[in-house]
Amino acid sequence: PPLEDIWDLNDMQIAAKNVLSGKYYASYRTAALNEYTYQANLGIYSKVRLNGFGFRDVSNLQTSTTILGYNFSQPFFIAPAANAGHANKTAEKSLASAAGKAGILYVPSISSTLSIETIAKAGVKGQVMFHQEYIWSNTSQVIDELDRIKAAGFKAIFLTVDNTGINGIRTRSMRYTDGSETGHSANFDLNSLAAFRNLTTLPIVPKGIKTWQDAKTCLELGFPAIYVSNHGGRVLDGVPTAVEILMDIRKNAPEVFAGMEVYADGGVRRGTDALILLALGARAVGLGRPPMFANIWGEEGVSRLISLFAQEMATSMQLMGVADVSQLNTSYHSDALAWSL
Ligand code: FNR
Repeated sequence: PPLEDIWDLNDMQIAAKNVLSGKYYASYRTAALNEYTYQANLGIYSKVRLNGFGFRDVSNLQTSTTILGYNFSQPFFIAPAANAGHANKTAEKSLASAAGKAGILYVPSISSTLSIETIAKAGVKGQVMFHQEYIWSNTSQVIDELDRIKAAGFKAIFLTVDNTGINGIRTRSMRYTDGSETGHSANFDLNSLAAFRNLTTLPIVPKGIKTWQDAKTCLELGFPAIYVSNHGGRVLDGVPTAVEILMDIRKNAPEVFAGMEVYADGGVRRGTDALILLALGARAVGLGRPPMFANIWGEEGVSRLISLFAQEMATSMQLMGVADVSQLNTSYHSDALAWSL
């Protein structure tokens, strides 16, 4: 379908479902077991209420922010997702260049279609990108990849800690792959996490934090940031959504928000979804599946996704009476319902 007919991220998913093979669409859409967490990720935002304050000048809107000290035009980013090449032959190149032109962060997956170096070169001049890494059981592979990531100019590592030993069981996609989506080493413990930091000088952000206890541990270990995520519901079915995890951290370990940057993702499809997470203390919010779907049109599709999403966020911010994203805090959550903070 022509891109001019696409008006939101849901339109993009429907188009992708029509265009992609069953196997490739399933590889993006799939989630673990009953997909309860996947559904909860999408549904949780309907349970949260945002306050809209009047009597404020919101004519001079500011959406730019810093992530690990680097400037970006928006507080949302393209999260790591494997195999962008399933959607388009430009694969991760179109994601990198669309992100670069819009001034937003892109974090390619280590399981990308294209090489680390090719993706780095696809960005625009001066573009800052971070890179995702997994904890492979083969440490020399990890060291080699970390060296290449740094040499290619990436500025930080999102270290995925939730899909490390054991993959989620995702029947929707296993039907196409004879169930061969198996895991690797399951022995990654706290000592391994501490040891991992000696493998690179780049800042490391643990991705896949789902409990306030693990958030607190990361703070105590001195990480500069954490990434709250249930991996889009693809790993352990039944775990809480980012909204609930952020609220748990706020309740049980509020020092985390003061001591480190917190990023979050899962089911973000609307500008208001992102604003809900930002107001709960996230500094930046990731989009996982939507950019993969948008990539069926290549760079143009990804650019349109970024501008549609930015427009939803900007308009909703103004309607909330927020002129600058840095002002977002829990006072923008209504405690009218059960979600009292
Ligand atoms: C992912 N995700 C992911 N995460 C990661 O750290 N490394 C990876 O290689 C991948 N690969 C991957 C592939 C696909 C197809 C999807 C959908 C997701 C998880 C991703 O970074 C993110 O946490 C979720 O996708 C966020 O949820 P939404 O936005 O997809 O609902």
